[in-house]
Amino acid sequence: MKEQKIKTNPFIFGKVVHGENFINRKDDRRELILEIKNHTNIILYAPRRYGKTSLILQVFEDIRKKHKNFTGIFIDFYRINSREKFLVTLTGEYAKNSGLSIDKILTFLKSAVKGIIPSLSLDQNGNPKIDLQFTPDIPAAAFEDVVNLPKKLADNGKLVCVVFDEFQEVTALNGKDFQNELRSVIQHHNNVSYFFSGSKQHLIQQIFNNTNNSLYNIGKMKYLHKIPKEEFTQFITTEIISVKPDFNKNDASSLYNTADGISYYVQMLAHEFYNISLLNKNLPSATILESAKNNLMDNKNEEFLFIYENLNLSQKKALELILENAGRSLFRQEVLAKNKIASATLKKALSKLIEKGIISFENNHYCYQDIFFKHWLIKTI
Ligand SMILES: Nc1ncnc2c1ncn2[C@@H]1O[C@H](COP(=O)(O)OP(=O)(O)OP(=O)(O)O)[C@@H](O)[C@H]1O
Ligand SMILES: [Mg+2]
Repeated sequence: MKEQKIKTNPFIFGKVVHGENFINRKDDRRELILEIKNHTNIILYAPRRYGKTSLILQVFEDIRKKHKNFTGIFIDFYRINSREKFLVTLTGEYAKNSGLSIDKILTFLKSAVKGIIPSLSLDQNGNPKIDLQFTPDIPAAAFEDVVNLPKKLADNGKLVCVVFDEFQEVTALNGKDFQNELRSVIQHHNNVSYFFSGSKQHLIQQIFNNTNNSLYNIGKMKYLHKIPKEEFTQFITTEIISVKPDFNKNDASSLYNTADGISYYVQMLAHEFYNISLLNKNLPSATILESAKNNLMDNKNEEFLFIYENLNLSQKKALELILENAGRSLFRQEVLAKNKIASATLKKALSKLIEKGIISFENNHYCYQDIFFKHWLIKTI
């Protein structure tokens, strides 16, 4: 008997999306490709889970199709916990992309980077790979040598883009010194495009918009907006109609709104909607949407309870105030008086909530990082 092919759920979350799973963002892609060709530095910022990393990697994929000489170097600062780790990672990326044979890279690195001890070993598949170690006291010149490596690729005719993802984490390294050192080297790289991407807006602003900071004015600021509703609902409708033929654009629009248009949560909710539809395609869309939302809240109930129970009273009050006032004008006298909270206490509570990653402050209002936490609060408190 012929086995029936079951289509896998087309809504992906928690992973970088690309290719046919990547929704549009045509203008952003065009702009970034152009800026890479212009060797422009970009500061790409947006709240968490809007799709920064996916966009950058999609742009790499796009550009590779037309420019065989393109080299994209991607460094995630969440993984960089020391200056040494940064240098090892960047050198490793260079080694992968240099186009030189492994022996030549080894010789090159030994001669070109002071303080580095490269050696050969085998990876899990038995292929040769380079291990890098620095001498205990990394000479100051090693930093410059390593940070100059992308320029060497560009000087040899490659089109080069270096991405420092979640760059705000640099503030956890020896902050300003690292930034000073970085700027002093990369400011001479006229043929390389650097992308600094980040999700903690207040830190990104401090790093790049503060005249006292060495990276001030290093590049063009670009805010990544949500995927437009029209583009997202088109994708959602096409995919869900294949399992629930009466699904329409308005249903997709409700789904998008329930997840506040944030890429990750829209995908998560659509994923759940799709699964429920497979088994109950005759239920009305509104009922399925409600079930999908409830399932997601239930799945996270323990996590949300834990977060909530570990907040003090003023932090809980601050969360309520955000709900009641749509995150705006929280410091009005009447709001403070009605809720019996002092301005300084509210301020402290809000910064603590930002620090804990529960809320963020964007476009002049406070909002929840996890939209389902907001739904959970509405249902629970
Ligand atoms: N263009 C897109 N098309 C479809 N889904 C997307 C797109 N961009 C993002 N997503 C969805 O959002 C999720 C998060 O994307 P991504 O990790 O790129 O965001 P991010 O802004 O880098 O997040 P973080 O701040 O957590 O690093 C993806 O797993 C995917 O579900
Ligand atoms: Mg990311």
